Amino acid sequence: MTDLRTNYIISHGYAESGRLHLQQWLWKMQMGWDLHPSIKLPEDGELRIADHGCGNGCDWQPHICFTLANSEFPRAWIISMAGELEDAQLQRAVLTGFDISAVHFPAPENLPGNVNLKVLDAFVDPLPEELVGKFDVVHVRVFTAVVKNGNPAQLIANAVKMLKPGGYFQWDEMDSESLKAIPPQPSVSAAETQEMLDTSLVSARSAMSLDYSWIPRLGSLFEQHGLDVLADFRMDVKKEFRKPMTDSLLMVLGHIAKIAVRDGCMVGTDKNWEELWNNSGAEIENGVSVTTDMLVCVGRKRS
Ligand SMILES: C[S@@+](CC[C@H](N)C(=O)[O-])C[C@H]1O[C@@H](n2cnc3c(N)ncnc32)[C@H](O)[C@@H]1O
Repeated sequence: MTDLRTNYIISHGYAESGRLHLQQWLWKMQMGWDLHPSIKLPEDGELRIADHGCGNGCDWQPHICFTLANSEFPRAWIISMAGELEDAQLQRAVLTGFDISAVHFPAPENLPGNVNLKVLDAFVDPLPEELVGKFDVVHVRVFTAVVKNGNPAQLIANAVKMLKPGGYFQWDEMDSESLKAIPPQPSVSAAETQEMLDTSLVSARSAMSLDYSWIPRLGSLFEQHGLDVLADFRMDVKKEFRKPMTDSLLMVLGHIAKIAVRDGCMVGTDKNWEELWNNSGAEIENGVSVTTDMLVCVGRKRS
């Protein structure tokens, strides 16, 4: 069966990078922070921060700068963190974004001086020795479609190895199992959209070997890997961000569906995909939103 995971990242190219801006903006606006408040950064020495699956690491877009306040730039987590640390005038910080592919990386010349981006598989085994015990914080966000066969254990083990004693691991996730169509009011139908979502989920699960059962268990998985859990919660996206979340999710689902239809692995409905997609479109134009729960889990490595 076609590996939609690789196919998705590569073939979606610039459109995926654009969608990541939206996703990054959404997380920052929803939470209001990059690091959960339970994380207390050490006040002296060199601070080292890592972000797995950093994506485009993109810095700024002139047309957006003119229309949004400074704090609302859609910046990648690693860049946003670099800005926050600079604002807080914290001690010397080095931020490293890791991703399995460099296709979305901006030119190093366009990155802040304390940010570097490198190619690394978050599931690599063994972890390169130079990364062991070096980081104060390791961060992961939106790996729903990256974790294979429902098993994030290797990634968590790597993150724990990368941390210094007392370091923090923060994982922000979207629970695909909670993917749902929400009508703006009971009189508006969301049935076609829900069927489209269910079909996409079944197809993505089977074509990409995905199993989302690990997502609600992140807290206990952290504990099994020797982390003290400081935060473990889920929330609905705020109403005002339902629309950007809908747009971001539809971009992913539409693209995955196109590949699945092309490769003959679209399953879960007797309807023609085009028909289902168009009917959902009509409902979405009537105000139906597509959302998933947003989760945050923070663990601390014992000293
Ligand atoms: C959905 S994007 C999330 C990007 C970013 N974390 C964010 O919050 O916007 C998933 C990212 O993980 C990367 N990725 C996929 N498999 C990976 C792996 N095994 N190790 C590291 N990164 C991976 C992809 O290239 C992509 O940039």
